[in-house]
Amino acid sequence: MENDNSRNNIIDIHEAQREYFTSTRVYIFRTLIFIAPLVLLSVSIFWLRFQNAFSLRTSISAEKILGHLPYVEISKNNLIEIQPNILVHKDMYEALLKMKSEAEKEGVFLVFLSGFRSIKLQEEIFYSLKSARNQYAIDRAKVSAPPGYSEHSTGFAIDIGDAQNRKTDFEVDFEDTNAFKWLNKNAAKYHFRLSFDKNHNSVDYEPWHWRYEGSIEALRIFEKANREKSIF
Ligand code: DAL
Ligand code: ZN
Repeated sequence: MENDNSRNNIIDIHEAQREYFTSTRVYIFRTLIFIAPLVLLSVSIFWLRFQNAFSLRTSISAEKILGHLPYVEISKNNLIEIQPNILVHKDMYEALLKMKSEAEKEGVFLVFLSGFRSIKLQEEIFYSLKSARNQYAIDRAKVSAPPGYSEHSTGFAIDIGDAQNRKTDFEVDFEDTNAFKWLNKNAAKYHFRLSFDKNHNSVDYEPWHWRYEGSIEALRIFEKANREKSIF
């Protein structure tokens, strides 16, 4: 008899404990049932909305060096001399000459300052000027691309000056010349666009530096630069 009583006590305690845990679990379970779908829905909407920007940012920034995208050097077979010592991609040659001659008809005289640059030449520019100016790479990169990272190596970039105002060559003051004003208004007709405008996030403003986007090859080469510009 005494044994029976003690067994009942143990059973009572067990049942009471089981009841307590069950009600807590039911409460948690019910809460999750209501909240989990809402959390999942919010995360999915957020991911669907921003996944492109996240993956693009990651892939672009992983490839960049000091704010510059990488560019492969164009084969010499695709280059043509447009002015003594200035070579450009053959695909942009005619558009560039046409732009120059149309500008001349309006009394504006463009001069080409720099076209294709080999990675070797870019290396000399980047390192010799950086050294001469006693600059760290990160500061020099604001005005000059590291070797392998310049649009000039593609043959599709051209630095332009005003033939009647040569003291503004490679200077921000070039933006006050007739040549720049004309380019700003007309360059798009010939498929040229300014690469480093005042809003560029890592390279200083270069009103003289234009790139050609008038062929599929050029568009493909500058795709990342254009997409990056559209998301930042
Ligand atoms: N000046 C531009 C950034 C270049 O070196 O390509
Ligand atoms: Zn340039």
